[in-house]
This record gives sequence, C-alpha cells and structure tokens, in this order.
Amino acid sequence: MNPTIRLTDRIHYIGVHDRRKHLFENMWPLPEGVSYNCYLILDEKTVLVDTVEAGAGGDFVGQIEALLKGRTLDYLVINHMEPDHTGEIGNIVRTFPDVKIIGNKKTFNVLQAYFGITQNLVEVADGETIEVGYHKLQFLYTPWVHWPETMMTCDLTEKVLFSGDAFGSFGALNGGVFDDEIEFSYYESEMRRYYSNIVGKYGNMVQKAFAKLNRIEIKAICPVHGPVWRKDVLRVLGLYDRWSRQEGEPGVVIAYASMYGNTARMADYIARKVSEGGVRHIRVHDVSKTHASYLISEIWKYNGLILGSCAYNTQMHPTMDALTRELELLGVKNKHVGLLGTYSWNGGGVRSLNDFAGRIGWEQAAPAAEIHGAPTAEKATACDVLAAEIAKRVIG
Ligand code: FEO
Repeated sequence: MNPTIRLTDRIHYIGVHDRRKHLFENMWPLPEGVSYNCYLILDEKTVLVDTVEAGAGGDFVGQIEALLKGRTLDYLVINHMEPDHTGEIGNIVRTFPDVKIIGNKKTFNVLQAYFGITQNLVEVADGETIEVGYHKLQFLYTPWVHWPETMMTCDLTEKVLFSGDAFGSFGALNGGVFDDEIEFSYYESEMRRYYSNIVGKYGNMVQKAFAKLNRIEIKAICPVHGPVWRKDVLRVLGLYDRWSRQEGEPGVVIAYASMYGNTARMADYIARKVSEGGVRHIRVHDVSKTHASYLISEIWKYNGLILGSCAYNTQMHPTMDALTRELELLGVKNKHVGLLGTYSWNGGGVRSLNDFAGRIGWEQAAPAAEIHGAPTAEKATACDVLAAEIAKRVIG
C-alpha cells in the first residue's frame, strides 16, 4: 500500500518514514523519527536518484518495480554514499543487473568498498550533463556536503535540484511531503538541528556549493531527508546561506553544568539580567539533561552564548566538557561569549572553560564570572557586568 506521490508528471517521490530508530548515526535523538527520500524519473530512460537505508523501507525494490510498470531501471544516480542512502543499492543491482550507476571517481571508490560493484559505472565530471529524454540532468560536485564524494543532481528541464543531505531535516514526514502541505516552523527547527550537527562543520564547503547553485534556476529542492521544498525555495536557500555563514539572530543560549544547583542559580540570575538588558530570545539549558544536538541547534540559531560549569576534579563538569568538544569540532564562531561557574576548593571549571575559549579563538564579551560557594547577592557584580555586556552586544 504505497501512495503515488508526484512532484511533476514524470518525477516521483519515494519516501520511507522511520519512526523506530532512536538515534541517527547512533548518536542523534530522533523523537519524531526520520525520513529517507529518493526520486524516480520516468522518461525515455528511467532514473532512480539515491536509495534508502537497508531494511528501512520494507519492500523498497517492489515499490520501484510498481512505479516502473514492467520497464527496467536504466540509471541509478548516487549523489551520496553514506549508508542511509545507499543501503538498497545491492537489491537494486540484483533486480536490475543492467542498471548503469552514475557517480564520480570518489563515489565509485567507496561503492566498491561497500558493495564490490565495479561494472556498469558511468563516471561524470563536475558540471557534466546527461539527457534521458525530456529531462537533462546536470551533476554538480559538492564535496563535504556532507562527505567528500557528495554531489547534487540538477534536472535542468524542470529546474529540480536533487540535493542529497543539503536542505534535509530530521523528523519523519507525517502525510505531508511538500512544504505547502506541512508546518514549516517544525521542519525548519529540525532542518537546523540536522544542518548544525551533521553538516555544520563544513559551512565553507556549503558556501562553495552555493557558488555553483547560484548559476542555475531552482524551482524545487528534493533532499534525502524531510520535506520537499517547492513553495519556499528562496526561504530555505536563505536559511542555509545564513547557517553556513554562522550568522546568528539576536538571542542568547545559556548552557550550564551544575551538580548542586549553584551554577544553575548563577545561570538563571544572568538570564534574568540579560532579559532586563532587552534580549527577547533567551534559552537556558542544563547540559546534563538536554541532548547536545538541541543545544548545538540553538547555539547555531543565536548570536549570544554563555557557558557555565561547576568545578569537577579540577576541570569543568564532564557534560560541559562533552559539549565544548563538540563545539570545537564543529568550529562554532561569531558568538558574543560569556563564561561563568562556581567552585568549592581548587576550582577548575571556569579555568578549563577559559582554556577552551582561548583554544577555539573566542573573544569573551566580559571577564568570566566565577563564584566561590553560594551565589549570593553580594557576589553578583561580575554576573551583572557579564549580562549587561552580552545583552548590549547581542542586540547590537
Ligand atoms: Fe543522510 Fe550524509 O547522510
């Protein structure tokens, strides 16, 4: 029982909506699941663009065969070799042994390593085109969006971009497939969580991809996760452009690690003072409770960031340490930064946060606020200075 879903007369959407998997890449929570999308072009030649994760789609090949109605599959385009999109390649090749596989040199290197496939390969150069009847497909190398081999396929005829992971989101689709059928704000949030955690490290490569995409007309974007964008294409392109430049909106994320509530009270106090400073978007999180992927998504969204930690074995708390490692790995920048923390004996929480900020190259808006023992009113001066300076800079 598979509904027929067409983007255009000749381009079919095929999606698998996975609500069983708990963790994407065995790491990122999927409370609302995830969709794997691929696309079938029925023209003089038949073309499948990407597949889905192995076993996720039930009878995936049967679904393709039903749409082909007795025709064979002429081409399989591999935009991206990560297994969530290539898991069904073996089944496709066994069912359609003459299918020609379109990719680039790096694609085929990994294709052989995973599947042992060395035959019927069509290697395309960056910018090369192939005509399959009415449609003319162009292949654009977009390395590191999200793996080195990644490319996008553009249907120059109907102006449709098959974008791979780019413009994709977490969250299984719930009946609505196209952006004019869904609640944009929910998927925007999950698109940013996907972008910031999965692709965010490669913002400069996203900008290089934009330099190529800016030369073509795009009426619809077909990613491999989440909704198909055909109504708000410019809005989605704009969001990606902004995120890849790490241009945050005015707002502050305050993330703290606290064992007995003292650092938490400092964070809440500073949040109040930041609010009194006029900032209207403030998010306060306990890093021991909220998964880092949500923190990173919000950190990507806003231009202010305050990190706090108690001392733990003369270092910052391990949960904050894990977050800072992730921020360093992702190369987070362009933030108005503040640090805070508490200690009982030798300290170390704020000291290690300061070391981290220096290592990553962040300039702090004000000296770190550190309190010995209970955060009482008479110890609040540094917190007041930090909050006022952050608020002033964030609002700009
Ligand atoms: Fe959805 Fe990079 O795979």
